[in-house]
Amino acid sequence: MNDLIKKLVEAYGPSGFEDQMRDLIRPEIAPYADELSVDAMGNLIAFRRGDGTGLKVMMAAHMDEIGVMVTHITEKGFLRFTNIGGVYAHTLMGGRVQFADGTIGVIYSERLADRGKVHPLDKHYIDVGASGREECPIAIGAAAGFVRPLVVQGQRLSAKSMDDRIGCVVAIETMKRLQNSPHDLYFVFSVQEEIGTRGAQVAANAIGPDVGIALDVTWTGDTPEGQMMAVGLGLGPAIKVKDSGMIAHAGLVQLMKQRAAEAEIPYQLEVLVGGSTDARSMQLAGPGCAAGCISIPCRYVHSQSETVDADDVENSIRLLTAVLSGEMAL
Ligand code: CO
Ligand code: ZN
Repeated sequence: MNDLIKKLVEAYGPSGFEDQMRDLIRPEIAPYADELSVDAMGNLIAFRRGDGTGLKVMMAAHMDEIGVMVTHITEKGFLRFTNIGGVYAHTLMGGRVQFADGTIGVIYSERLADRGKVHPLDKHYIDVGASGREECPIAIGAAAGFVRPLVVQGQRLSAKSMDDRIGCVVAIETMKRLQNSPHDLYFVFSVQEEIGTRGAQVAANAIGPDVGIALDVTWTGDTPEGQMMAVGLGLGPAIKVKDSGMIAHAGLVQLMKQRAAEAEIPYQLEVLVGGSTDARSMQLAGPGCAAGCISIPCRYVHSQSETVDADDVENSIRLLTAVLSGEMAL
């Protein structure tokens, strides 16, 4: 599974530019889908037919990642940029980005008078090695994602874009392992989550699910003087109860807890104070649906070294498989 994780986390795919990700995921899931389709926004949707006795269940894992977009090129060939999604200035200095064509850039900022303070994004720039605007290989509007190879140390895996490529891995592995489900299943590899859960919104409106389950990362509270949050790495998937965009369906939360207990899967309960997921869009689509989220605990979310635990990934797959295998009386 680490090969698949490496392939997905290292791939290029800022919000709105997910085509390379879609091309990587499609062959992984094709053998396990009854139908595959791509909608107008670029969501990749895999459908698996149930036995006619179950519900319509939509899973959403987002393919896109945070990144930057070029707004201006200086005469000397440096790129000014804006953010795509939640990019924080204090994570940038000395970092690297890659554009769709493979061009690599180094991010730095204007001189800091006070090194205890960080400049805002608009005082940063990208250096792609060009010595003037004319020979700069990158155009205004080009989007870049970050570059950072996957590191595996024991159970811990660090990379850029674990958010949410690790959710995509959970969806793919579940499709591979799930034998029988009474439900009609729609595995949606969604676009544009990082700029407001936009892809899942249109997919959910088209599908009209009874139940929506997002697969995404969540923060942890287990780092030095970190935020107050009762989620830690290695303690199991986090069943979302609330985040800043939604309150999960109580019956679905209960079902997830019950299936975890039956299968002896460790789990945690998640209350995330800042941030949301595709579950929020699914909850509000059409006449609404019972929405929830299986969250993979992750340290350093929206930095270039997002870190997860391999046991949590495995147990997230087991939990989703257990939830989808049986009846859902919500
Ligand atoms: Co995110
Ligand atoms: Zn995410």
